[in-house]
Amino acid sequence: MNVLVSGGTGYIGSHTVVELLKAGHNVIVFDNLYNSKIETLDKIKEITGKSVKFYKADLLKPEEMEPIFRENEIDCVIHFAGLKAVGESVAKPHFYYENNIGGTLNLTKLMNKYNVKRIIFSSSATVYGNPAFIPITEECPKGICTNPYGWTKHMIEQILTDFHTADKDWSVVLLRYFNPIGADESGLIGESPNGIPNNLMPYIMQVALGKLPELGVFGDDYDTPDGTGVRDYIHVTDLAKGHLCAVEKVMSSSEVNIYNLGTGTGYSVLDIVHAFEKANGLKIPYSIKPRRPGDIATCYADPAKAKEELGWVAEYDLERMCKDSWRFAQKTLANEI
Ligand code: NAD
Ligand code: UFG
Repeated sequence: MNVLVSGGTGYIGSHTVVELLKAGHNVIVFDNLYNSKIETLDKIKEITGKSVKFYKADLLKPEEMEPIFRENEIDCVIHFAGLKAVGESVAKPHFYYENNIGGTLNLTKLMNKYNVKRIIFSSSATVYGNPAFIPITEECPKGICTNPYGWTKHMIEQILTDFHTADKDWSVVLLRYFNPIGADESGLIGESPNGIPNNLMPYIMQVALGKLPELGVFGDDYDTPDGTGVRDYIHVTDLAKGHLCAVEKVMSSSEVNIYNLGTGTGYSVLDIVHAFEKANGLKIPYSIKPRRPGDIATCYADPAKAKEELGWVAEYDLERMCKDSWRFAQKTLANEI
C-alpha cells in the first residue's frame, strides 16, 4: 500500500513508519517538525534499510500539503500529527483547537479533493473521561474530557464519523491508544519531549539519567491497590504494529471502526517505578506529591475487539518496555542538552 503518515517523525509515528516499511509498504511522511527532528528519518533508514519520501508540511498550510496529494498515489492516511501536551492545552486552548481540529479539517478537505477517503486516526483513551466501567471496552460511553486536548480527540472522532455518515466512501478507523512507552529495540528512536516531561516514563528517564533529582508521584490515596494511579502501559512497537492491522481494515471496510489499543493490564505508578528499577538495576528516588488535577484513578483497556477483528494483541511485557525505554535514554537522550 501507499500510506501517507502525518506526524511521521514523532514518537508513535516514527515507530509506525518502521513497522510499515518492514511490512513492505511504501511510506510517505509529512510533519512540520514542531515536536520532532528531521534526523529521525536517518534513524528510520538505519533501522530498516529503507527510505521514506518526506515533505516538511504544516496541517495549517494547505498549500504545503497539496503537493503531497498531487505528486503521489495514496491509498490511505494515518493521521498522527497534532499537539498532545495536556497542561499546555489548558493554557492555550485556541492553539490546540486550531492545530488539531483546524488542521484535521484542512487535511481531510484535501483527501476529499483527491479522492483519498481512507483514514486511521490517533485517538486516545482520554475520550472515555472518567470511565463508566473498567476494563474499558469500545462500548464504554465517551465521557467528559478534563482538558482541551482531550476534547480535540473527542471532536475529531465525531467529525470523521460524520464524514462517513454523509459519504459512505469514507472508511474510518479510530484507534484509542492507552499509554505508550518503550522504544524501538535499536535504541535509535523513542520519545524525546521538549523541556521537563509531563508523562511518567519520560520523567523517570530524566531521573535515571541524573538530569532531575527525583520523581514526584501524584497522589497515593486513590482507590487502587497501592493508592497510586493505574494505567495501561503499552510498548510503542506493539502500538505501531496495531497500525499495520488498521491499514488492512481501513482498506477492506467502508465503515467507522473503533479499537482500543492497550494490553488489558493495569499497572500503578509504583509498579512502574519498581519494574524499571528491577529491569535496569537502578534506583529511582521518588516522593509522594498531591494529586495532579484532572487525573483519574484507574484506566485500562479491554482489548478483545482488536484481537477478534484485527487479529492484534500486544506482545511485549513491562520488563521489556522498561529495558527498551532505558536503552533509548542511554543511547540518545543522554546526549541531548
Ligand atoms: P509527537 O508529538 O511525538 O508526534 C506528533 C507529530 O505531529 C510531531 O512530530 C509534530 O511535529 C507533528 N505536528 C504537530 N502539529 C503539526 C502540524 N500542524 N503540522 C504538521 N505536523 C504537526 O506525539 P506522539 O506521542 O507520537 O502522538 C501521535 C498522535 O497520537 C498524536 O495525535 C497524539 O495526540 C496521539 N496520542 C498520543 C498518546 C501518547 O501518550 N503519546 C496517547 C494517545 C494519543
Ligand atoms: N504521574 C506521576 N508523576 C509524574 C507523571 C505522571 O505520578 O511525574 C502519574 C500520573 O498521575 C498517572 C500516571 O503517572 O497516574 C500516568 O501519567 P501520564 O502523564 O504518563 O499519562 P496519563 O495517563 O495522564 O495520560 C496519557 C497521555 C494522554 C493520553 C492518555 C491516554 O498524556 O495524552 O495517556 O490514556 F490521553
